[in-house]
Order: sequence, then structure tokens, then C-alpha cells
Amino acid sequence: MAAASDAPEAAEHADRLAARLGCPRIEANAVPEEAWCLQTGDRLTLFPPAASKLPSLQPDFLRGPMGHRLRRGRHAAPMLARACAVNAGAPPSVLDLTAGLGRDGMLLAAIGCRVTLVERHPLVALLLEDALARAARELDWVPQRVRLIPADALDCELQPAEVVYLDPMFPPRGKQALVKKEMQLFHRLVGHDEDADALFERGRQLALKRLVVKRPRKAPPLAGMRPSGRIEGKTTRYDLYPAT
Ligand SMILES: C[S@@+](CC[C@H](N)C(=O)[O-])C[C@H]1O[C@@H](n2cnc3c(N)ncnc32)[C@H](O)[C@@H]1O
Repeated sequence: MAAASDAPEAAEHADRLAARLGCPRIEANAVPEEAWCLQTGDRLTLFPPAASKLPSLQPDFLRGPMGHRLRRGRHAAPMLARACAVNAGAPPSVLDLTAGLGRDGMLLAAIGCRVTLVERHPLVALLLEDALARAARELDWVPQRVRLIPADALDCELQPAEVVYLDPMFPPRGKQALVKKEMQLFHRLVGHDEDADALFERGRQLALKRLVVKRPRKAPPLAGMRPSGRIEGKTTRYDLYPAT
């Protein structure tokens, strides 16, 4: 792992990131082939090792597909909105214990939920923090409704919320080659969340009204716990558990 800068003015930022991550700070043109590299500039970009032939990662909530989805509001994620019981006029508070790159959490915030995002992988949390900061400059609802906690949800203090949301990594199956390149990159970086069952317990303790677990459509339920309700799509489903 290395932090690199592509311009002199980004060098100080790269220094700070290298100190935070405990990795070397190098020039962008001197990154070893086998290294993961976080590059500073007008935005943070994560480059995987060159040999992996995987794309770079650069979350963006303002432009591209995610920017478009956020502008569409609840039409962009009707199943997610239903799963989290986002009724007009009373959007719930949401605690997303598996924030990742913040897509689901931001879709919920865009339709009115106050969302706390918890992410434990330091690089993923940094990319998300950077994308949120850029979004906050243009979208006033971002600082009002979204908060990021870069920590392990199993090992930090958290306030309960009406809805707790879980979307842990699931081991890639069968048609690996068909899995999107970005997903492959994410699996390489983060692994498979082997402790996701424990997260289920934590989620149940923190949910005031409902725990929602996103799963691949054919996957067994998390922690072997049968949900009380289900919302199914073509490839994904949401398992619903009432608060205990
Ligand atoms: C599949 S991704 C989530 C994707 C996210 N729903 C989105 O829309 O971008 C799962 C993420 O959960 C994070 N994670 C897993 N267990 C966690 C825990 N105990 N605490 C915090 N983050 C966790 C992983 O690091 C990974 O980034």
C-alpha cells in the first residue's frame, strides 16, 4: 500500500493520508507494480496493483450513475425504500453498519432518512469520507443527514436507530467472470466479512423498529435466522426482522 500525489499541491494531503494509514508516501510515477495506491488530487482514487487489470475506484455522488440515481429519489431504489419503511413524511433514522462505498446509505439519505454510516475498512472509509465531503459542497442535505463513523461496528459505541441496515460481503459464487470488475476489486480489497453473523446480533440490539439485511437472492439468511418478511428482486433480496 502507498499514498501518492499527482501534483505538488496534493503532496501535503498525501503526507497526511500516509501517516493515517501507516504506509509510505511516494510520487505517482514511482508506484511499484504490485502495490495498492491511494492517489490524492481533486479527489481520492484507489488504484489496484497494475497486474490485476482491475479499474481504479473513485466513488462520486454528484456525477455518473450514482449522481443520476440520487437525483431520481425514491424511484431509484424502490425496493430499498420499501425494505426500510421509508414512508412519505416520516423517513426513519437509519444505521448502516456496512457502509462500503455508501451507495445504499446515500440513496436512503436522498429520500429523507438521517443516516449514520459505519465502515471499518480504512481505505474504503477514506474514499467514502472524500466522496461525502465533495457531495456536501453541492448538496445541502448531505451534511444535514449523513454522518460517517470509520470504525468496526462490532467494536464501537453506536446509538440505536429506527432501522438498522446490513449488507455484508458475500463470497462470490459460480459466475465469477460475470461479476462486475468493480465488485471484483472490492472483494479483493475487503474480503468476505466472515464475521457477518455477529453483526446480525449487533444489528438486532441497535434496531428500534426493524433490521434489514440485503442478501444475494439465493443466499441463505444471515446467521441462519429466518426473516419475518422478504422483498425480492431479480438478483437481490431484503430480509426483514422486527425489533426485539
Ligand atoms: C457489500 S459492502 C456494502 C456496500 C454498501 N451497501 C453500498 O451500497 O455501497 C460491505 C461493507 O461492509 C463493511 N463491513 C463489514 N463488516 C463491518 C463491520 N463489522 N463494521 C463496519 N463495517 C463493516 C466492509 O468493510 C464492506 O466495506
